[in-house]
Amino acid sequence: MSNAVSDLPQRVFLHEVAPRDGLQIEPVFVPTDAKVAWIDRLSETGVAKIEIGSFVSPKAVPALADGEEVARRIRRRPGVRYAALIPNVRGAERAAGTGLDEVNVVVSASETHNRANLRMARADSFRQLAEIARVLEGSGVALTSSVATAFGCPFEGPQERAKIFDQAALLIDAGCVGVTLADTTGMANPRQVAETVAAVLRARPEIARGSVQLTLHFHNTRGVGLANVLAAAQAGATRFDAALGGLGGCPFAPGATGNVCTEDVVSMFAEMGVETGVDLGRLIAIARELPDLVGHEVPGQVAKAGRPCDLHPVPTAAAA
Ligand code: COA
Ligand code: ZN
Repeated sequence: MSNAVSDLPQRVFLHEVAPRDGLQIEPVFVPTDAKVAWIDRLSETGVAKIEIGSFVSPKAVPALADGEEVARRIRRRPGVRYAALIPNVRGAERAAGTGLDEVNVVVSASETHNRANLRMARADSFRQLAEIARVLEGSGVALTSSVATAFGCPFEGPQERAKIFDQAALLIDAGCVGVTLADTTGMANPRQVAETVAAVLRARPEIARGSVQLTLHFHNTRGVGLANVLAAAQAGATRFDAALGGLGGCPFAPGATGNVCTEDVVSMFAEMGVETGVDLGRLIAIARELPDLVGHEVPGQVAKAGRPCDLHPVPTAAAA
């Protein structure tokens, strides 16, 4: 299908974050064998990146305590990048030996959320960046960073755009090759997203040149996740975090709910003629097994409804 809408990119890249953002809020511990088998199947879907877990305190997030083992045991598919979230230097030390492609250091735009999530001041998070970069030097693990609560904080409310830009600048200066703007609790709206993405692309030539990747990370907490993805794409963003089945949420943000759903995002782009590189049928097949993996229904829509091209048999009464 040709791309008829001129303000959309030809190609977007999906980052599957269900094994990290998705599982971190689940009350059950998905056994390591099941995680590894699941990630291996996700590797075959055509997503560009998979966040396989995190190297945070196992007391803070017991569901992801097996990060090293998962990283060691997954089958790395060439062309897919494998990442993990870290909160501090200790996380970088744990990640350095894993051979993962990248780590994602999370720092909130909001002081209050940073303290709730990481139990430290933003200034202390920023101070650790240089040491994290030093730990990773020569390890082959690239440094990327997420700006949590970039579009609003559940404790403080709106965050000034200047603060987001200052943080992005600081991260890029610290050597980050990727910056993710994260809407941790689904507070963003499409106009705000479009304006922010356009402004970031204007302000940061490294992103326009491609030496730093910009990723958008939305949660569907208020039902506008897909609208935000579309607004970001129309403003020039091409990389999106999403979680299979719409799993996800930050355990340290009240009212947190799932990420935008990977198969819903892929279906939307596919219907609009935007290339994602993802095999939607394969993705849906894995999504349909999620209730068995996590023990409950999941919010994603397309896995329940089927693709728009999955037509139903004509009822006898309607047959000509
Ligand atoms: N990996 C594993 N263990 C870690 C760790 C890491 N990256 N960082 C600290 N720890 C351990 C310490 O060794 C210590 O262990 P002990 O109690 O057995 O001695 C314990 O965690 C507490 O360490 P401390 O430095 O005092 O941390 P804290 O209690 O102030 O917590 C964090 C700070 C950052 C470790 C913790 O809040 C955390 O892991 N947060 C992650 C939150 C998250 O994943 N949010 C969702 C993603 S956005
Ligand atoms: Zn998230």
